[in-house]
Amino acid sequence: MLFDTHAHYYAEQFDPDRDEVLSALPAANVGLVLCPGCDLESSRQSIALAEQYPFLYAAAGVHPEDALGLPDDWLEQVEAMTRHPKVKAVGEIGLDYYWQEVPRDLQKEVFRAQLALAQRLDMPVIVHDREAHGDSLRIVLEYPALRGVFHCFSGSPEMAAELLKRGWYLGFDGPITYKNAKRAPEVAAVTPLDRIVVETDSPYLTPVPFRGKRNDSRYLPYVIGKLAEWKGVTPEEMTDITWENGKRLFRLEE
Ligand code: NI
Repeated sequence: MLFDTHAHYYAEQFDPDRDEVLSALPAANVGLVLCPGCDLESSRQSIALAEQYPFLYAAAGVHPEDALGLPDDWLEQVEAMTRHPKVKAVGEIGLDYYWQEVPRDLQKEVFRAQLALAQRLDMPVIVHDREAHGDSLRIVLEYPALRGVFHCFSGSPEMAAELLKRGWYLGFDGPITYKNAKRAPEVAAVTPLDRIVVETDSPYLTPVPFRGKRNDSRYLPYVIGKLAEWKGVTPEEMTDITWENGKRLFRLEE
């Protein structure tokens, strides 16, 4: 079965038909979904969805784009959410230097606070790193006991190797199916099969041939197909491998 380790089903793009989409996933061979929050509100919404759908799990965290104007007790609120039995990670958290509105120092402060929390709670993290590779790598390595995934990894093969040797996982998404995906095959080449997880980032990052449409977990086989081709395994094998990897990363083993 398919494990979509990153999908934002609370997003307003799903308001017209959220239940219809989610209810259709098990029949489409999607057996597990992890829904990360981006701020306090969407983390709460992810948990509410996890309470409603048995195959859906949540992560709680504050994304760098949402780091402005946080209440004084924001970290306590994140920690309280991590106590929920269906919350399996702190995320998504990280650095985004593409969007300039949030000062970099504030992004780093919010990122470090959540990495420290995850390390203290012994929980995996889901890292968003957009055009901030050097700082993201340096900062996560300040927390040596910490593990997690670099979501939609866009760094170099050298950076991938640094993370992999410390036990991190790399997330692959729809953009690997785009014609201009140059780094992704090089990154996949240095990534062992047991460290690959697959994500849709729904409703965003829709793979070819549906690029431009709203994404959902049923398009995950297009990402898996591309990875299978690059790694020389069958799509069925890649499905099983990424299912096991996701369960190991987020400790969902029965
Ligand atoms: Ni995301």
